[in-house]
Amino acid sequence: MRFSTLSSKKILLGVTGSIAAYKAVELVRELSRQGASVTVVATKNAGEFIGAVTFHAVSGSAVYTDLFGMPAEPAPHINLPRQADAVVIAPATANFIGKMAHGIADDLLSTIVLAAQKPILVCPAMNSAMYEHPAMKGNLEQLRKYGYRIVEPETGPLACGDEGPGRLAEPSTICEAVKIVLEKKDLQGQKILVTAGPTEEPIDPVRFISNRSSGKMGDSLARVAKRRGAEVVLISGPTCLSKPWGIEFVPVRTAAEMYKAVLSYFDWATIVIKAAAVADYGLSTVLPQKLKKGTPDLSLKLTRTPDILKELGKRKKRQILVGFAAESKNLIAEARRKLQEKNLDLIVANDITVPGAGFGFDTNQVNIITADGEVFDSPLLDKEEIAYIILDKVLEVLQRSRGKS
Ligand code: C5P
Repeated sequence: MRFSTLSSKKILLGVTGSIAAYKAVELVRELSRQGASVTVVATKNAGEFIGAVTFHAVSGSAVYTDLFGMPAEPAPHINLPRQADAVVIAPATANFIGKMAHGIADDLLSTIVLAAQKPILVCPAMNSAMYEHPAMKGNLEQLRKYGYRIVEPETGPLACGDEGPGRLAEPSTICEAVKIVLEKKDLQGQKILVTAGPTEEPIDPVRFISNRSSGKMGDSLARVAKRRGAEVVLISGPTCLSKPWGIEFVPVRTAAEMYKAVLSYFDWATIVIKAAAVADYGLSTVLPQKLKKGTPDLSLKLTRTPDILKELGKRKKRQILVGFAAESKNLIAEARRKLQEKNLDLIVANDITVPGAGFGFDTNQVNIITADGEVFDSPLLDKEEIAYIILDKVLEVLQRSRGKS
């Protein structure tokens, strides 16, 4: 990817003494892969789980462990956070969270937390009983009051054999949380409804009609909008993607379910981006039993599903409406027709015959057309980069519409 929120950002990663410390190695790699430079500060107990040599190898710089005895850095507790863009504590143990909540500064990392005037993200990892203890809940509440971001642990099998909440969030989730903290907030105050993925129109209990949409374009739009400060609701048909962190996620299956969900959020939204590939036809009555093999030919009567975007176009008051047009011929003419027919402010057209663009790919190449007739052609880029470009254009349309009113 050519662009990343983490490019040239400096992250101070604090690692404390949990079995999940090994996952911090993966986190250093992920942050570095996305362009950040990472300085690791490890507590004494973290050193019991993973050696400084490992962190040095993956981060490319020396690991800090002590307040004293590092001549190159006479006041590391002041200088290290000063040089960083954000401080991430991952994993954060119950003990360390307790110390942060009470302002205790008895080692390098806890002293850094007190001295840091930068965003602080805390990623707890511990046994579920410890995580659910009232003392822990109170301490986390206290950290929220200090303005620290908590990246909640996941629920699942724990290292001790128990099952429950307490697993350190995945490195990709922690990276996303860091991006949300560091990105410029030019969409602050906007309420963005995004739809993504395909819909499935059932035929019988085991079969359905669908399409090859992966949901990646809508997922990228939702995540980038969240990073840029918007409140985001993502309504998605079935995909293999995991629910994006910090975003209200509404899973749906059919076009009818998506229609109902979209309408229930429409009055709330200031911007609606319909990236979903909604099936245009489905069976009006789903067969109650599995269809048996019989005659050589089979006819199914299909009926039109509701055109959600067209309905939104009719109901539109103040919202900015963005549609998608995936076409295999007459791309621009078809996109213009849809823009008018559905009363849109902007349409994102993509030629599905271009190699690497559209359904199922990680990349896309789009032509963005506004209601004013402006056309912008993007190169073939990662879908996340395309999401930045689409949202830049939405912002321009929004600013222009503000200027008019
Ligand atoms: O008319 P067409 O389906 O090609 O238009 C595509 C756009 O309309 C997309 O933004 C898609 O999400 C939306 N759409 C919809 N409801 C449908 C079909 C498409 O909202 N039933």
